[in-house]
Amino acid sequence: MSELFIQGPNKLSGEICIHGAKNSTLPLMAASLLCDNECILHNCPVLSDVDTSLKILRYLGCRVQRLGNDVAIDPSSADQCKIPDSLMREMRSSIIFLGAIVSRMGKAELSFPGGCELGPRPIDLHLLALRKMGVIIEEDHGCLKCSAPDGVKGTCINLSFPSVGATENIMIAASCAKGTTIITNAAREPEIWDLADFLNSCGAKIYGAGESTVVIEGVKSLSGCEHRVIPDRIAASTFLAAAAITGSTLTVSQIIPEHIAPVIPILEECGCHFDISKSSMKITAPKRLGRVKSVRTMPYPGFPTDAQAPVMAMTTLSDGTSVFIETIFESRYKHVGELLRLGANIKVEGRVAIVEGVSRLSGAPVEAADLRGGAALVVAGLAAQGVTQISGLKHLDRGYESLEKSLASLGADIKRI
Ligand code: EPU
Repeated sequence: MSELFIQGPNKLSGEICIHGAKNSTLPLMAASLLCDNECILHNCPVLSDVDTSLKILRYLGCRVQRLGNDVAIDPSSADQCKIPDSLMREMRSSIIFLGAIVSRMGKAELSFPGGCELGPRPIDLHLLALRKMGVIIEEDHGCLKCSAPDGVKGTCINLSFPSVGATENIMIAASCAKGTTIITNAAREPEIWDLADFLNSCGAKIYGAGESTVVIEGVKSLSGCEHRVIPDRIAASTFLAAAAITGSTLTVSQIIPEHIAPVIPILEECGCHFDISKSSMKITAPKRLGRVKSVRTMPYPGFPTDAQAPVMAMTTLSDGTSVFIETIFESRYKHVGELLRLGANIKVEGRVAIVEGVSRLSGAPVEAADLRGGAALVVAGLAAQGVTQISGLKHLDRGYESLEKSLASLGADIKRI
């Protein structure tokens, strides 16, 4: 198994182009299954989760081709309605395929995603919504057997929580349903808007994506289109945190600055300055960061849970005490124990983490337990004195394309061995 070795501390400088968003690419790939002919997705990041989605599409019978960051999906030959347990286990968010498979095939068989590194991963909101849309779902020995003998039907769905995955599954299932679907308390993340944009380019009729109420008028069929995946706002936030902790000046480009807006005030509170243009932003960090009073993770446009770990790593060297409140996932502080090994001073009480800034971190062997927790270790390692050795890279490879190459090109001393 390979590991990352970071010799720190080192400043970063220059410009980093941000890759396409993993969390947009996955639902777009699932949604492509609804089309009658080929879809081409540009700006797909080269990540293991994207590879898993490609494997699922192939398993379902689609013809799939990847050329660098372009992926062509021809679903016209799709004839399977089952995702095997091994693929479901590789990526628990494969549940996003449920709405697409049942809409196209009239039935679907998936294994229950179960728990994951972030805690239990319930899918009750997905199932409740699909049942309301006329899908019969039997939960049998860890397997979900779904069928829609009379087709998927439009209806009104009020989500008790604005779940990103449930909103996406409903939008996909509703696109070719009979009648109109109205989702209230829908998720408003940029990835929802990107999915609607893609589906509408294929011929769907989705209105209000990015707002709390989304209306989907079912259409008879969808035809393939070309679409460019939006930039990854969490990768961008991670690079900003890395620049901040190392006291660097860095330009993060090929982004949609509006998508990163929830993270900017936190970095500004720590003393960073921003120069924002249409598709890039330059961060200038102070020599020593100030503390941030409190960071509460919230659904978009609140502070993203996915940026909590890298931003927490950033505050370990702040002057003062920073408080984090994780409201989205039950178990999203697994990076804390590893940050302590590097000399950080953090206390966790349930959903609250209190970070007392220290003046120095020192490199040590650490292990990534989840994707964003791994990114936090990289952020801390860049500023720690000496060598930080990071294992558990399979998690990082799920969400960051060539992270070490990008950081090395900005001046970090980082190698994968
Ligand atoms: N939830 C339920 N029931 C459901 C669905 C969700 O209780 O049926 C709960 C979850 O357990 C969680 C909360 O609602 O506590 C939020 O879950 P949501 O459904 O919004 O998240 P998701 O769709 O499973 C996506 C991203 C996550 C990101 C979250 C929140 C993808 C593939 N994953 O997950 O990304 O953290 O939205 O923004 O889009 C990551 O990239 O590292 C990552 C985990």
